[in-house]
Amino acid sequence: FDVEYHDSIGSTNERARELASEGREDVAVVADEQTAGRGRLDRGWTGPAGGIYSSLLLRPDVPPAHAPVYTLAAAVAVTRAAREVGIDASIKWPNDVLVGQSGERGGKKLCGILTEMEGEADRVAWLIVGIGINANVHAEVLPEGATSLQEERGEPVDRRVFTQRLLETFDELRADPDSILDAWREHAATLGQRVRVDTPGGEVVGEAVDVEFPGALIVETDDGERERVTAGDCEHLR
Ligand code: BTN
Repeated sequence: FDVEYHDSIGSTNERARELASEGREDVAVVADEQTAGRGRLDRGWTGPAGGIYSSLLLRPDVPPAHAPVYTLAAAVAVTRAAREVGIDASIKWPNDVLVGQSGERGGKKLCGILTEMEGEADRVAWLIVGIGINANVHAEVLPEGATSLQEERGEPVDRRVFTQRLLETFDELRADPDSILDAWREHAATLGQRVRVDTPGGEVVGEAVDVEFPGALIVETDDGERERVTAGDCEHLR
């Protein structure tokens, strides 16, 4: 990736969209502070100085339906980088990175990911993977239930090194997409958990037993059915 760095910016995803419209690819837009960060489900994303806010612009030669796997790869890359600095991080399906016990009220959110895509008929035109990491930020300025790298370690991280590691891991994973699901399973907090997933088609409750390409969660419900959930908000119940 070419890295385009900003001290402060509205939203790195917005900047990456501009770069996409200029025909660029393999660019990582990285900022310390975001003033108009966007989250999933039309929520905002708090972006105080000291964070690592980044958007990866890529143009993988895959069908649009395969795009979710790149979001999983980003969650793996963040989790690995966090573990390397001594933090017990893991992934909540599909792509939140948590610290600590993952049960109800347990894990605290360290990172959120917002992926945006433009598809053509049979291939992705561009894909923007927006990664928001609470890095050297005090918990008081974060929303309830969130934590930061600094908070968990008791000292700040080197954001340059962290970002570098993140990009390296993401690069390795995208070069070998078949490895992404196994890496995700290895870092998952959700597998083996009892979950409630709010999906567009209703609520699914049961045990999360696996993830399938390109990122579907397999839930074994109480009546023994295997449900394949492709989108929704997931809550860990215990
Ligand atoms: C979520 O709701 O959990 C996803 C949050 C994603 C935030 C990141 S920060 C970098 C990138 N730019 C944005 O405006 N949003 C994403």
